[in-house]
Amino acid sequence: MGIVYVYRRAHFSASHRLFDPNYSDEKNLAVFGKCSNPTGHGHNYYLEVCVAGERNPSTGFVIDLKKLKIILEEQFISFVDHKNLNTDVPFMKGINPTAENIVVQCWKQIAPHITEGKLYSIRLYETEKNFVEYRGE
Ligand code: NI
Repeated sequence: MGIVYVYRRAHFSASHRLFDPNYSDEKNLAVFGKCSNPTGHGHNYYLEVCVAGERNPSTGFVIDLKKLKIILEEQFISFVDHKNLNTDVPFMKGINPTAENIVVQCWKQIAPHITEGKLYSIRLYETEKNFVEYRGE
Protein backbone atom coordinates (compact mmCIF):
# COMPACT_ATOMS: atom_id res chain seq x y z
CA MET A 1 0.00 0.00 0.00
CA GLY A 2 1.11 3.62 0.43
CA ILE A 3 -0.19 7.05 -0.36
CA VAL A 4 -0.01 8.14 -4.00
CA TYR A 5 -0.34 11.80 -5.05
CA VAL A 6 -2.35 12.29 -8.25
CA TYR A 7 -2.18 15.60 -10.15
CA ARG A 8 -4.40 17.28 -12.68
CA ARG A 9 -3.62 20.57 -14.39
CA ALA A 10 -6.23 23.03 -15.63
CA HIS A 11 -6.20 26.42 -17.24
CA PHE A 12 -8.41 29.48 -17.30
CA SER A 13 -8.20 33.08 -18.40
CA ALA A 14 -9.80 35.81 -16.34
CA SER A 15 -9.62 39.49 -15.58
CA HIS A 16 -9.44 41.18 -12.22
CA ARG A 17 -8.61 44.29 -10.30
CA LEU A 18 -6.96 44.14 -6.89
CA PHE A 19 -8.18 46.97 -4.72
CA ASP A 20 -9.65 48.00 -1.41
CA PRO A 21 -12.80 50.08 -1.99
CA ASN A 22 -11.90 52.18 1.07
CA TYR A 23 -8.62 53.32 -0.51
CA SER A 24 -8.04 56.04 -3.11
CA ASP A 25 -6.75 54.94 -6.53
CA GLU A 26 -3.33 56.29 -5.45
CA LYS A 27 -3.26 54.20 -2.29
CA ASN A 28 -4.49 51.13 -4.17
CA LEU A 29 -1.67 51.63 -6.66
CA ALA A 30 0.82 51.89 -3.80
CA VAL A 31 -0.47 48.70 -2.13
CA PHE A 32 -1.43 46.50 -5.10
CA GLY A 33 0.79 47.89 -7.88
CA LYS A 34 -0.15 47.29 -11.49
CA CYS A 35 -2.85 44.81 -10.43
CA SER A 36 -4.92 47.76 -9.13
CA ASN A 37 -5.36 49.32 -12.58
CA PRO A 38 -8.87 50.82 -12.23
CA THR A 39 -10.19 49.24 -15.45
CA GLY A 40 -8.68 45.81 -14.73
CA HIS A 41 -6.33 43.48 -16.60
CA GLY A 42 -6.12 39.79 -17.42
CA HIS A 43 -4.11 36.71 -16.51
CA ASN A 44 -3.68 33.24 -17.96
CA TYR A 45 -4.03 31.19 -14.80
CA TYR A 46 -2.89 27.60 -14.35
CA LEU A 47 -4.09 25.27 -11.62
CA GLU A 48 -2.48 22.11 -10.29
CA VAL A 49 -4.80 20.05 -8.15
CA CYS A 50 -3.44 17.14 -6.11
CA VAL A 51 -5.54 14.31 -4.68
CA ALA A 52 -3.82 11.90 -2.30
CA GLY A 53 -4.84 8.47 -1.15
CA GLU A 54 -4.53 4.72 -1.26
CA ARG A 55 -5.12 2.96 -4.57
CA ASN A 56 -8.46 1.30 -5.06
CA PRO A 57 -7.51 -2.39 -5.11
CA SER A 58 -9.71 -3.21 -8.09
CA THR A 59 -9.13 -0.17 -10.34
CA GLY A 60 -5.60 0.75 -9.25
CA PHE A 61 -6.73 4.39 -9.15
CA VAL A 62 -6.58 6.85 -6.25
CA ILE A 63 -9.16 8.89 -8.14
CA ASP A 64 -10.37 8.42 -11.69
CA LEU A 65 -8.72 11.39 -13.47
CA LYS A 66 -11.69 11.63 -15.84
CA LYS A 67 -13.88 12.34 -12.80
CA LEU A 68 -11.40 14.85 -11.37
CA LYS A 69 -11.35 16.65 -14.72
CA ILE A 70 -15.16 16.92 -14.71
CA ILE A 71 -15.29 18.11 -11.07
CA LEU A 72 -12.73 20.85 -11.82
CA GLU A 73 -14.56 21.91 -14.95
CA GLU A 74 -18.07 21.93 -13.45
CA GLN A 75 -17.29 23.30 -9.98
CA PHE A 76 -14.60 25.87 -10.77
CA ILE A 77 -13.36 26.47 -14.34
CA SER A 78 -16.83 27.01 -15.80
CA PHE A 79 -17.42 29.79 -13.25
CA VAL A 80 -14.16 31.69 -13.81
CA ASP A 81 -12.98 31.13 -17.39
CA HIS A 82 -13.23 34.33 -19.47
CA LYS A 83 -14.91 36.10 -16.56
CA ASN A 84 -14.23 39.19 -14.49
CA LEU A 85 -13.35 37.83 -11.05
CA ASN A 86 -14.51 41.03 -9.31
CA THR A 87 -18.01 41.06 -10.75
CA ASP A 88 -19.00 37.82 -12.54
CA VAL A 89 -18.25 34.97 -10.13
CA PRO A 90 -20.72 34.24 -7.30
CA PHE A 91 -18.14 32.67 -4.96
CA MET A 92 -15.74 35.62 -5.42
CA LYS A 93 -18.33 38.32 -4.56
CA GLY A 94 -16.88 40.80 -2.09
CA ILE A 95 -13.50 39.04 -2.07
CA ASN A 96 -10.38 40.79 -3.38
CA PRO A 97 -9.27 38.42 -6.19
CA THR A 98 -5.67 37.84 -5.14
CA ALA A 99 -4.14 34.49 -6.08
CA GLU A 100 -4.33 33.59 -2.38
CA ASN A 101 -8.06 34.29 -2.21
CA ILE A 102 -8.80 32.56 -5.52
CA VAL A 103 -7.01 29.35 -4.48
CA VAL A 104 -8.94 29.16 -1.18
CA GLN A 105 -12.27 29.66 -2.97
CA CYS A 106 -11.27 27.00 -5.50
CA TRP A 107 -10.64 24.58 -2.61
CA LYS A 108 -14.08 25.32 -1.15
CA GLN A 109 -15.70 24.72 -4.54
CA ILE A 110 -14.10 21.37 -5.30
CA ALA A 111 -13.25 19.71 -1.95
CA PRO A 112 -16.83 18.56 -1.20
CA HIS A 113 -16.95 16.75 -4.55
CA ILE A 114 -13.76 14.70 -4.10
CA THR A 115 -15.05 11.36 -2.83
CA GLU A 116 -12.11 9.14 -3.86
CA GLY A 117 -8.85 9.99 -2.08
CA LYS A 118 -8.53 13.36 -0.36
CA LEU A 119 -7.87 16.78 -1.78
CA TYR A 120 -4.25 17.41 -0.75
CA SER A 121 -3.20 20.68 -2.38
CA ILE A 122 -4.11 23.24 -5.01
CA ARG A 123 -1.47 25.34 -6.68
CA LEU A 124 -2.50 28.43 -8.66
CA TYR A 125 -0.10 30.10 -11.08
CA GLU A 126 -1.00 33.71 -11.80
CA THR A 127 2.12 34.14 -13.92
CA GLU A 128 4.98 31.81 -14.78
CA LYS A 129 6.91 33.15 -11.80
CA ASN A 130 4.17 33.93 -9.26
CA PHE A 131 2.15 31.11 -7.75
CA VAL A 132 0.48 30.10 -4.50
CA GLU A 133 -0.40 26.79 -2.92
CA TYR A 134 -3.16 25.91 -0.46
CA ARG A 135 -3.46 22.69 1.52
CA GLY A 136 -6.71 23.28 3.36
CA GLU A 137 -7.19 24.49 6.91
NI1 NI B 1 -3.29 40.81 -11.65
